[in-house]
Amino acid sequence: MKRIKAIYPGSFDPPTNGHLDLIERGSKIFDELVVAILRNPEKDPLFSVADRRKMLEAMTAGFDNVSVDTFDGLTVDYALRVEARVILRGIRAISDYEYELQMALMNRKLQPGLETVFMMPAEKYSYLSSRLVREVAQLGGSIECLVPDLVAQKLREKMDVAHKFANGEQPLPSETKIRTRKKRS
Ligand SMILES: Nc1ncnc2c1ncn2[C@@H]1O[C@H](COP(=O)(O)OP(=O)(O)O)[C@@H](O)[C@H]1O
Ligand SMILES: [Mg+2]
Repeated sequence: MKRIKAIYPGSFDPPTNGHLDLIERGSKIFDELVVAILRNPEKDPLFSVADRRKMLEAMTAGFDNVSVDTFDGLTVDYALRVEARVILRGIRAISDYEYELQMALMNRKLQPGLETVFMMPAEKYSYLSSRLVREVAQLGGSIECLVPDLVAQKLREKMDVAHKFANGEQPLPSETKIRTRKKRS
C-alpha cells in the first residue's frame, strides 16, 4: 500500500489546542504528518519561528509519525519538495470555508496532484484561534484551557517582559523581540 505523507501548514503563532486536536486527528489517518511553519516575513509575529518550532516539537513529541519543519514560498512547492501528497487544513466554522476553499482551489491549479484535506476540530475548539489567544493573553485573560501548558507559560513570559518594557524597566538580554504594551493610565 502507498504511504501517504501530509503537511499541515500554518502560522501557529502560537500553537493552540485546536491545532493540536487537528494534528492528533491527522496523525491517525496519514502515515506521516509534517507540521510546517510558514516563515512569513510580512507578518509581524508574536513568537519567533524558532520559538514556535520548539513549542510544536514539544507538543508533538508523543506522536511517532509527526514532525515539525519550517518553510517559505509556495505551500505547494514545499509539499512537492518533501514528497507530500496532501495538505491538511482545519475548518472551524463557515467563516473559514470561503478562504480555505479559495486557497485549496488555487493550490490545485498550481499543483493538480496535491489534495487538500479539511478536518474539523472538536466542537470545544471551534471558536479558538491564535489571534484570539494572543489578544486574550495580551489583555491579561486566562488562556489555560486554550493552549498547552508550555505555550501558556511562554505567553506569560512574553507578557511579563512586555509589562517590564511598558514600565520602563531594563529587560534581560534574553528578553528580546517582544511586543510592548502601553502602560495603562
Ligand atoms: N481551533 C482550531 N481548530 C481547527 N483548526 C484550526 C484551529 N485554529 C487554526 N486551525 C487551522 O490550522 C491551520 C493553520 O492556522 P493558522 O496557524 O492560523 O495559520 P494560517 O496563517 O495559515 O491561517 C488552518 O487551516 C486553520 O484553519
Ligand atoms: Mg489563521
